[in-house]
Amino acid sequence: RLVVEPNAKGAPIPSTMYGLFFEDINYAADGGLYAEKIKNRSFDFPTPLQGWNAFGKVEVRNDGPFANNPNYVRLSPAGHTDKWTGLDNEGFFGVSFEKGKDYRFSVWARVPDGGTSKVRVELEDPATMGEGQDKCAKEFEVTGKDWKKYTVTLSPSETVSKGKLRVFLVKPETTVDLEHLSLFPTDTWKGRENGLRNDLVQKLADLKPGVFRFPGGCIVEGTDMDTRYEWKKTVGPVENRPVNENRWHYTFRHRFFPDYFQSYGLGFYEYFLLSEDIGAEPLPILNVGLVCQYQNHDESAHASLNELQPFIDDVLDLIEFANGPVDSEWGKVRAEMGHPEPFNLKYVGIGNEQWGPEYTTRLEPFIKAVRAKYPDIKIVGSSGPDSEGKQFDYLWPEMKRLKADLVDEHFYRPESWFLAQGNRYDNYDRKGPKVFAGEYACHGKGKKYNHFNAALLEAAFMTGLERNADIVEMATYAPLFAHVEGWQWRPDMIWFDNFRSMPTASYYVQQLYSLNKGTQVVPLKMDGKAVAGNEGQNGLFASAVKEDPSGDIIVKVANTGDTAQELQIDFKGLKKKQHYSSVEITTLHADNDAENTLDNQEIVKPKVENYNADSITDMNVSIPAKTFAVYRFK
Ligand code: AHR
Repeated sequence: RLVVEPNAKGAPIPSTMYGLFFEDINYAADGGLYAEKIKNRSFDFPTPLQGWNAFGKVEVRNDGPFANNPNYVRLSPAGHTDKWTGLDNEGFFGVSFEKGKDYRFSVWARVPDGGTSKVRVELEDPATMGEGQDKCAKEFEVTGKDWKKYTVTLSPSETVSKGKLRVFLVKPETTVDLEHLSLFPTDTWKGRENGLRNDLVQKLADLKPGVFRFPGGCIVEGTDMDTRYEWKKTVGPVENRPVNENRWHYTFRHRFFPDYFQSYGLGFYEYFLLSEDIGAEPLPILNVGLVCQYQNHDESAHASLNELQPFIDDVLDLIEFANGPVDSEWGKVRAEMGHPEPFNLKYVGIGNEQWGPEYTTRLEPFIKAVRAKYPDIKIVGSSGPDSEGKQFDYLWPEMKRLKADLVDEHFYRPESWFLAQGNRYDNYDRKGPKVFAGEYACHGKGKKYNHFNAALLEAAFMTGLERNADIVEMATYAPLFAHVEGWQWRPDMIWFDNFRSMPTASYYVQQLYSLNKGTQVVPLKMDGKAVAGNEGQNGLFASAVKEDPSGDIIVKVANTGDTAQELQIDFKGLKKKQHYSSVEITTLHADNDAENTLDNQEIVKPKVENYNADSITDMNVSIPAKTFAVYRFK
């Protein structure tokens, strides 16, 4: 028996409660959300022609028009009527293109000796190239010695998933220089030129996230100091954003991707814009002067205490970039990029998954500097991963001493952990920082990834987040995205290939919480006892919220057990004539090991039923075994 007290006062649910963690892992940015189709578009990977196949006379030169991306290619006449000069790009797991869509190809070019040259660009299908069948092509003239941007639209007449882009000199050939070759579909999210993949952003928007954390994750720290994420390099014209090695380039030997770099085309401006588009509070995470810790580097790998000022300046300048007036140094950069209005940044995270004294001693001067200049900004400190809580034992008292506003806890743990953590936050210190459950996912042992039972246990665990909304301010499942051909880490919330994307069971759990987060916790008792949640009560985990202004009551129940259970939901303390007139019941249920695939996305999916009655003041309902159910009383 569940007893809900709809009129009793409970903690407000923070608007940030259920959010998103984004990191460029699993090709989430380049090759994923960022809709650019050309890999190594400015020839500035350490191996300049990586991703390209050059033919004829192609020379890489390094005195190009963009200081941070100095390389470009010179295409010279092949010197024989039967020879050609040009190059092909392999894209990210192929250059994919679809019939009926338009693609914007652009390139910076010049004719070094003056005059005019002609270039041809084609979208090709390697499977039919033997027959010389290009899928679509355009020729354009390049004129003069000055670098200029040229743009043509390509409209393929066939759909090809593993195509390539070919660019070559048209005969009679005249030497031409090419830099920053780019190919975007025109149907990006909101049609933006430096745009994002529509289907992927839509999936994020459909989650109605309260907070959007970026850019990671370990890539904040980098494998070493030189490869850490530096936001200042990610803003301004895309042509001049330098390439950086990705932290996930070679993290796992068996998932080694030597072509995994960050173009920074999806940079901090785009992250802020995306947060705004999907209605989420932006939460940037910045480097605290430490490299990624799980390699246990010695001190010399990190910035020492007296080298921290540039890192601290990065935080202060970022706040100015997001919120500063248009005549401030960094507010001006934002305005010039097209957003004179502030982004209203409220949170900054300092350090990702760091712990120990080397973290807190570095964090302290950051906190002092931010408090002094921006007292309203909330600071999110980190606490490392949950390895039997050891890091947390050290970090929480320290975070309280440093007066961090939130602490970011991470847990990628097995089923048993999730089953035992329903009451995790019931006894957290209410006088210290708030909780940001910043990275979590149930990693089922010996099971398929993203199988239903893992998601069900996440749902069970999340009842505890919700019941403790007075201390838990935000929570984000991680990682968010994975390309089916390029993952380093799983499970992940959304999988995709070059055309399609797929919500997992975990996606639906997040969505059911987010769309039903309510505005206030309401007290709930199960069989006369306050719902504690540890190991569930008879396998049941539950929470209840009220949503204003609708006044709807939303009860969430995860039945983690193997048998159906009869629930009696009673309302206590209803006012005279107060009742509900309909119940919307949404259930998520599947076989333990069931998981969606790109080809079959209907295997795990919520089902909705509605019941109407004149006056509902209680309800008897059977919750099937292994089911997450959301009961919305209207
Ligand atoms: O989400 C994958 C990784 O897990 C993150 O980059 C890191 O913070 C954690 O170790």
